[in-house]
Amino acid sequence: MRHPLVIGNWKLNGSTKMVKELIEKLHNELNNIINCNIAIAPPTLYLSQAKKALINSNITLAAQDVDINLFGAFTGDNSAEMLKDIGVKYVIIGHSERRIYHNETDELIAQKFSILKSQGLIPVLCIGESKEENNAGKTEQVCANQIDKILHYLSIDAFKNSVIAYEPIWAIGTYKSATPTQAQSVHKFIRNHIAKQDPIVAEKIIIQYGGSVNVNNASKLFVQPDIDGALVGGESLKAHSFISIVNTASIIKKVY
Ligand code: 13P
Repeated sequence: MRHPLVIGNWKLNGSTKMVKELIEKLHNELNNIINCNIAIAPPTLYLSQAKKALINSNITLAAQDVDINLFGAFTGDNSAEMLKDIGVKYVIIGHSERRIYHNETDELIAQKFSILKSQGLIPVLCIGESKEENNAGKTEQVCANQIDKILHYLSIDAFKNSVIAYEPIWAIGTYKSATPTQAQSVHKFIRNHIAKQDPIVAEKIIIQYGGSVNVNNASKLFVQPDIDGALVGGESLKAHSFISIVNTASIIKKVY
């Protein structure tokens, strides 16, 4: 049985005041949750503040990106070692916003995957198709390709204790989530695709759904057998919504 994982991706949002207030609320309301792993991914600048605010909390820290180098003359970048040093557990890589706005390639993303594994951090590999690819019926092909590109550089063992987030680009920030049936079908395809390499890794890997997850659609998504939680964007900035989404995952995916 897989333990669900809900991560709040704050993207480029936050301030010292907001970090303090939002985390205070999450800390108070989510402290008794044991059936769902929880993480928040504030902007890098606020990770240390968040870490302090999360002392004695079951909420862990995620980062939104990482550089492929561990140290050196790479102005503006943050290394896996640094993220680990300040207490980060998960690192989101390959988000469509980075693929699109920063021209990140599958090769670069594979290098990020590799450096994270070498530091014992957990990669959250985002994959997903554009609206055009979806309309052309290429969803499965795109997802398989994005996974295969990682497998070209790393072995299937890299996917042990890693996370995949299926995030259809057309569903991100649009208030138009994939339907639970659509999402389940892609998640099952992704799991089967991994299973061709290693059925045990496939059975254990957490596959999150991301793209307009909210309090209204969370339960319908989480009842799907291959949806193991969510990567939540906009709604993770609202305490009551994020708390409700985590509670829903915890109840629906209860591990006995
Ligand atoms: P939204 O939940 O705002 O659609 O964002 C999803 C996302 O991109 C999470 O990484």
